[in-house]
Parts: sequence; C-alpha cells; structure tokens
Amino acid sequence: MRRVPAYGLLFILFVLMECSKDKPDPGDLTSFVYHPQPFEVVAPATFPQMEIPADNPMTVEGIDLGRRLFFDPILSADSTMSCSSCHLPNASFTDDLSVSPGIDGINGRRSAMSLLNVGYYTRGLFWDGRAGSLEEQALFPVEDEIELHNSWSKVVEDLKKHPDYPRLFREAFGIAHVDEISKELAAKAIAQFERTLVSTGKAKYDRVQRQETFFTDEELNGYIMFFDLGSGFPDAECAHCHNAPLFTTNEYINNGIEDIQDLNAFPDPGRGAITAKFIDNGRFRVPTLRNLAYTAPYMHDGRFKNLDEVLDHYLSGGHNQLNKDALIYPLKLTAEQKSDLKAFILTLTDPDFLTIPAYQSPFN
Ligand code: HEC
Ligand code: HEC
Repeated sequence: MRRVPAYGLLFILFVLMECSKDKPDPGDLTSFVYHPQPFEVVAPATFPQMEIPADNPMTVEGIDLGRRLFFDPILSADSTMSCSSCHLPNASFTDDLSVSPGIDGINGRRSAMSLLNVGYYTRGLFWDGRAGSLEEQALFPVEDEIELHNSWSKVVEDLKKHPDYPRLFREAFGIAHVDEISKELAAKAIAQFERTLVSTGKAKYDRVQRQETFFTDEELNGYIMFFDLGSGFPDAECAHCHNAPLFTTNEYINNGIEDIQDLNAFPDPGRGAITAKFIDNGRFRVPTLRNLAYTAPYMHDGRFKNLDEVLDHYLSGGHNQLNKDALIYPLKLTAEQKSDLKAFILTLTDPDFLTIPAYQSPFN
C-alpha cells in the first residue's frame, strides 16, 4: 500500500474546510430577525389578572405560531385533524358532539371543552384536572391514541423540514438552529394562542354590569334566582359553583348526574382517577356557563342535548351519592321561573367572540 505524504493529508483537510465554508449550514436560522413584540391580553375589567408563566411570556410572534399549530393537521398522524377539528372557533372552541371521534373514527369518552377564557383556569385542565398548565395540556392530544394518534418525534421532524415553521420558531423563540425545534416550544406557542381566547365583554350580562343596557324582566328574575338574591324568588344555588365573572369556580364537584349508588360504579371516575381518592370518584371540574348557546350538548359526557334538560336535572336535585354536593337538591321552581333562569344564563352569550379574525384558521 502506498503511503500518502503528510502534505497530501493537509491538502485534503484544506479542501474539506473550504467546502464546508462554501456550503452554509441549511439548519442555521440566524439570518432571520428575532425581534419579538410583547402582547398584552385585553379582558373585561371585571376579570381577574391572567397568570402568565414567567418562562413563556406572550408575544405577537409566539401567538401567531401557536395559532398555526392549532389549526394545522401536521399534528395528526394522517394529516386529517388538528386541534381545531374538535375545538371550532364558531362553536366557542368546542364541537357540537357529545363525545368527539379522533383520526381513526373512534370516539373518545368525554365531550370537547370550550376554550373560552381557558387562560384563567389555574386549578388543573381537562374535566378531571390531570394537566397542570396549558403548556403541559398541549402535549396530550398529539399522542392520544384516540385523538391525533401521532408521535411528537414525528411532528418535530415534520416541523423541521417544513418551508415556514423553522423561521416561525426562530421569530417566536429566538432559536439559532432548526434542531432546537422541540415539542416543548410547540406547546408553549399553542398555550400563548390559547391565552388570547378571552371574552369580548360584549355579552349582555357584561353590558348590564357596565350599565350600558338593562335586563328584561325575565332575565332579571333569572338573575335573582341564579345569585340567590331572594325578593320573592326561590334560590337556584347556581352561583355557588358557577360564579361571576368566569361563571365557574373550577372546583371538582359531583353534581349528581349519574344514577348509581356506589362510588365505585361511576362509568367515568373523573377526578377520582387522578387523586386516587375514593371520595373524588364522579367529581368533575365545574365548566363555565359563558357561551352555552354554542356549546351543546352539555356535561362531561354530553348527555344533555339542551339547556331544558340541564335545568330539569337541577330542578330534580339529581341522584344521591355520598359525595353529591349539598347544594344540589330539588329546587322549587315553577315552569315560568325555570324559563326565567334560562333567559338569564343566555345573557352570557358572546357572539362576537366567534368571529374575531385572530381566532380563525390562518390557512383559509
Ligand atoms: C378528537 C378531539 C380533540 C382534539 C383533536 C383535541 N382536543 Fe382538546 N379536548 C378534547 C376533549 C374530549 C377534551 C376533554 C378531555 C378530558 O377531559 O379528558 C379536551 C380538552 C382540552 C383542553 C382543556 C380545557 C379545560 O378547560 O380544561 C384544552 C386546553 C384543549 N383540549 C386543547 C387542545 C389542543 C391544544 C389540541 C391540539 C394539540 C386539542 N385540544 C386537540 C377533544 C379534542
Ligand atoms: C354544587 C356545584 C354546582 C351547582 C350548585 C350548579 N352546578 Fe352546574 N355544574 C356543576 C358541575 C360539577 C358540572 C359538570 C358536571 C359533569 O360534567 O359531570 C356542571 C355543569 C353545568 C352545565 C353544563 C355546562 C357544559 O358546558 O357542559 C350547565 C349548563 C350548568 N351546570 C348549569 C347550572 C345551573 C343553571 C345551576 C343552577 C340551577 C347549576 N349549574 C348549579 C356544578 C354545579
């Protein structure tokens, strides 16, 4: 075998170095500008301050990326579904199904939740509270076997190869190289978008609070019963769990919808499966009553088709179990009072929320 002289090796090395200089690293993103614009959430004056995690400040660029990811079927295994398949803007970010089928057409066991004001929910996400934050929650649907049935490593590879996403991740998070795209950054962006989904303050209820308009007599009667304000009307107890301004306490409660005796017999144990406490079986997170006009059917399993069925449940007092909340008992409301209560809860309807351009798909 002939030996390569030392200067020959040096020459080869030189050529290699020159080549790598000529070919810039295709994954390098530093030529794109990183200049994020801070974003301030605008909410009705009565709302509490939204808690924004220190490690995920909201920016125009982060929200823009999150919105794309939310509407992009790139997240699902067969590119047919996105988050927005079950959380539709024109249904207040839920769907009109009792339970939602995923990409394989198999039904999940729970009803998709409205994402209106989801940025304010700090006592756990999902009906059972199993996710601690929106950043954590956003990781679930992609690998959920029934929902998007994909793997994050595949999604991240697809995002790296995409013509637009590497630049968008750079603009949102200042990454220097495509290899820094990760599921955590994708989840952060989605969470930023979700925190923008806030009530417009134009629901009749909010306008009455600001004394811009008045309730009708029926709505006013319903208001008195909802908040237990007396004056000749029976208490309906609703506000103990569905309190203003978000119309939920976000506590975990058994409101007696299941016709069973034994706490081990719940078809879905809800909170109990997370805390492993027997007494939490059948408890679910109190949902908001804002925008009910668009979020039927109701309850965690979508068992009630309309608000009349919901009110009939509360008037009946529900089914008794050891942990059914004491505020759920047979209400003494007349048919007229029931209809007044319904008129009041429908003043929480916020149609403007459905058509805000920044909440629609960026792909249309
Ligand atoms: C196949 C339908 C489906 C898809 C796709 C889907 N979701 Fe959901 N979503 C649901 C259901 C059902 C629930 C309630 C599940 C539970 O409680 O176990 C839910 C709950 C949530 C919640 C909790 C809301 C709250 O108030 O606690 C958030 C946030 C959410 N989804 C965001 C997303 C995001 C982001 C995506 C895309 C990455 C997504 N969803 C994809 C059906 C879906
Ligand atoms: C003790 C607490 C409590 C009280 C009082 C209460 N609720 Fe609820 N409400 C809940 C819980 C918990 C759920 C969800 C239960 C589930 O899905 O399993 C719920 C669900 C609902 C839903 C379904 C919303 C959706 O998006 O699916 C409506 C509507 C509703 N309640 C209206 C009312 C009205 C009206 C009153 C007064 C008559 C009332 N609630 C009183 C705890 C309560």
